[in-house]
Amino acid sequence: MNRVIVILSFIVIFSGCKNDGPGYEFMPNMYRSPSLETYGQNTVFADSLNARKPVKGTIARNYLSTFYYESSLEGYLDAGENAVNPFENNDMNIEEGKKLYSMFCQHCHGEFGAGGGSITHPIYSAIPHYNDGKMLRRANVPMNQLTSGHIFHALTFGLNAMGPHSSQLSEEERWKIVLYVQELQKYNAE
Ligand code: HEC
Repeated sequence: MNRVIVILSFIVIFSGCKNDGPGYEFMPNMYRSPSLETYGQNTVFADSLNARKPVKGTIARNYLSTFYYESSLEGYLDAGENAVNPFENNDMNIEEGKKLYSMFCQHCHGEFGAGGGSITHPIYSAIPHYNDGKMLRRANVPMNQLTSGHIFHALTFGLNAMGPHSSQLSEEERWKIVLYVQELQKYNAE
């Protein structure tokens, strides 16, 4: 009997001495996760070596694309007729537009959109009055009749001495500024 015990003890003690493996694993899933690792190989998809791409038509978070018009006169006229401001004309949005206007436009266009902002340079002397109802612009209408699409296009792509603002302002911010500019179009400031 003693011998059996000695032999069994040897087997138990030396069975743990293999160097080429972890020994017996009671619950392998605890050590090796069955989940798929990010960018790791997976066996679910046929092209298993590629990282998964978003489904076609996916829109990135916080990114809203509302404007598909070209940077050309045709694009401007097309936008003027068809582009729709997705943001409601309410006090909150106009107030936000006003704040942004004061940061991005006022130094040229003036506080009430009548020109005469703090930047003085001959190249900016021809800043049009938003409320002007006489001089015809590109769309063959005066400033106070430019539509939201015209205004959005002008701030997105710029016009002559006025640079494009698409890299400084998101689409949402530009649309809110448009709401405020439309308020100024009604305002006859000197
Ligand atoms: C650097 C000065 C400057 C800044 C900044 C500026 N503008 Fe202008 N803007 C001008 C000038 C100059 C014109 C006239 C361009 C022309 O007719 O050649 C103009 C024209 C316009 C027009 C008329 C476009 C058209 O289609 O006839 C609108 C609308 C307008 N600006 C809105 C804005 C708004 C909104 C902002 C702020 C996001 C802004 N501008 C920022 C200088 C500026």
